[in-house]
Amino acid sequence: KKIHILNGPNLNLLGTREGSIYGYVTLADIEKNCREECARLGVELEFAQSNHEGELVDLIQRAGESADGIIINPAAYTHTSVAIHDAIRAVNLPVVEVHLSNIYAREDFRHHSYVSPVALGTICGFGPAGYILALGALTSHLPE
Ligand code: DQA
Repeated sequence: KKIHILNGPNLNLLGTREGSIYGYVTLADIEKNCREECARLGVELEFAQSNHEGELVDLIQRAGESADGIIINPAAYTHTSVAIHDAIRAVNLPVVEVHLSNIYAREDFRHHSYVSPVALGTICGFGPAGYILALGALTSHLPE
C-alpha cells in the first residue's frame, strides 16, 4: 500500500510561522514522524509540499497513478481552490483532509472548505498529531 501526503502553501515555513497558531514543529519533523508511523503500519509513503496550486494539482494527479490514498493539508487553497476539488474528484482515491489548527474556531473565511465535500473525512485542530491520526484513519479504510 502506498500513501501520498501533500502539503500546500506556507507549510514549508512551519516552525517559524505564527507559532501561537501552528506550534513550533517543522514540516521536516512532521515528515519524520509520518515516516516512522508508515514503517509501523507497513505502508509506503511519498511526502511533498508545494506553494503552487497547479503543482498541487499535478501531485494529486500523480498520486492517482500509483497511490492507494492521499492525505492532504491544502492550507490556504482549502478555502479557494476549485482546481484542487476537481483534481480530487478526478483521481477517485480516498482522501483525508488535515489541518493543524481548528479552522472552525478561526476567521469566517476559513470555515468553508472546497476539499471537505470530496474527502473521506477531515481531521483538524490536533496539530501535527492530525497527520498520524489521518494515517491510521486512511489505512484502516483501505481494503486488505
Ligand atoms: C491550515 C489552515 C488554513 O486555513 C491555513 O491557510 C493554513 C494552514 C492548517 O493546517 O491549520 O495555511 O491548513
